[in-house]
Amino acid sequence: MKSIVILISGRGSNMEAIVNAAIPGARIAAVISNRADAKGLEFAAAHGIRTAVVDHKAFASREAFDAALAETIDAHGADLVVLAGFMRVLTDGFVRRYEGRLLNIHPSLLPSFPGLHTHRRAIEAGVRAHGATVHFVTPELDCGPVVIQAVVPVLPGDDEARLSARVLGQEHRIYPQAVRWFVEGRLTITAQGQVIVHDEAVDEAGWTIPALDRALGDGACDSRRS
Ligand code: GAR
Repeated sequence: MKSIVILISGRGSNMEAIVNAAIPGARIAAVISNRADAKGLEFAAAHGIRTAVVDHKAFASREAFDAALAETIDAHGADLVVLAGFMRVLTDGFVRRYEGRLLNIHPSLLPSFPGLHTHRRAIEAGVRAHGATVHFVTPELDCGPVVIQAVVPVLPGDDEARLSARVLGQEHRIYPQAVRWFVEGRLTITAQGQVIVHDEAVDEAGWTIPALDRALGDGACDSRRS
C-alpha cells in the first residue's frame, strides 16, 4: 500500500479527483495546506482524511517553512507527495528530499507558459492548443520530467474562465491517471529526464514485477521475470 500526501492551497478540485479515483493500492495519508481557509480541507475532513495546516506566514524564511512542511509530510510516511494547486515555491532542499516522488500539475502545456496566469497568457499569445501537464518536480520552477499532458483547443471567443474550465476538466482526468501509474510502479525517469510509462510495474533495476508480488507488497517475494 502506497501512502500519498496531497498538498493544496485552495479549492482542491484536483485533490478531490484523486481521492474520488479510489486508486487500488493507494491510501491518502493526509491533505496538508499552507492556508487554514483552503476549501479543499473541508472535503478531505468530510472524507475521513487527516488534514493539517502549515501556515507559511508563521515562518521567517522559505527554508524554515519547508522544513516544517517536510516534518509534517514525513509524519505521515509519504511514498508520494502530490502538489495539487499548492501555490508556494519550494526550496531546492525540499525538492531534493522528495526527488522522484514529488508530482505537480500545471495548467499549461509545459514548457509553454510556466508561472502564473497561464490561461490569460495562452489567449493573448494566440495559441490554438493549450492544456495541462503532470510532471515530476525539480528545483527549476514548472520544469521537470513530464508524465502526462492533456491538450484542449483554444476556441474563438474564449475568455480566461471558459478556457480554464476546459483545462480543469482535463486536469481531473490526467492527475489521477499519473498517480495511478506511480502507485502501480510503472513510471521511470531516464538519465535524460524523460518519463517512461511501462505496461507493467518495474523495480529500480528495470525488472518487471509480477502482479502477485505487487499485490503482496514490497519484498514479499523475490521471484522476477523479465
Ligand atoms: C489547478 O488549475 C492547477 O493546475 C493550478 O492551480 C489550480 C488548482 O485548482 N496549479 C498551478 O497553477 C501550479 N503552478 P484546484 O485547487 O481546484 O486543484
